[in-house]
Amino acid sequence: MDVFTAISQRCSVRAYKATEVEEDKIRKILEAARLSPSASNRQDWKFVIVRNKETKKKLAKAAFGQTFIGEAPIAIVACGPEPKTFMACGQPAYTVDVSIAFAYMILQAYELGLGTCWIGAFEEGEVKKILNIPKEVRVVAMTPLGYPNQSPSPKSRKSLDQIVCYERYE
Ligand SMILES: Cc1cc2nc3c(=O)[nH]c(=O)nc-3n(C[C@H](O)[C@H](O)[C@H](O)COP(=O)(O)O)c2cc1C
Repeated sequence: MDVFTAISQRCSVRAYKATEVEEDKIRKILEAARLSPSASNRQDWKFVIVRNKETKKKLAKAAFGQTFIGEAPIAIVACGPEPKTFMACGQPAYTVDVSIAFAYMILQAYELGLGTCWIGAFEEGEVKKILNIPKEVRVVAMTPLGYPNQSPSPKSRKSLDQIVCYERYE
């Protein structure tokens, strides 16, 4: 599968089979994150892999009852350990860096036949308590990971005309 095929066909998956995910596939998804680019190559990220059923249920509750997080055999929680680092452009490095790595993981998962769903709706304080994440560390995103139990169709997107302009902002 080429990169554009993965980008254009991947969809968020919100129903999962209980089937375990092979270790070599998990490893490849984590490698995709490890090899991602980051500001000044800081690689300032940490990914918590959760397999414990009770812990996943608690994460689903912390994500306002998105129960499918608990259905998947794995949940991945992406953290930024150094949230006080800002880039010269004023953006916090951790949100950008962790999000790039997470996007790479999600695409790699798709190529391996696995489903994911970027979860941004969660109570960060609750997630930190559940996973023993230190106070200074920020939680950027989480996703279930597993074999899809649904075949969602690609969602519509804005046209290029709506999102691109040339030479100056219009
Ligand atoms: C930053 C971010 C946060 C999101 N949070 C959630 C979420 O909490 N729950 C959920 O079901 N989907 C969530 N999504 C998935 C989006 O709803 C989804 O990507 C979007 O509707 C496009 O659909 P697609 O992923 O199938 O292409 C999130 C996606 C992103 C990028």
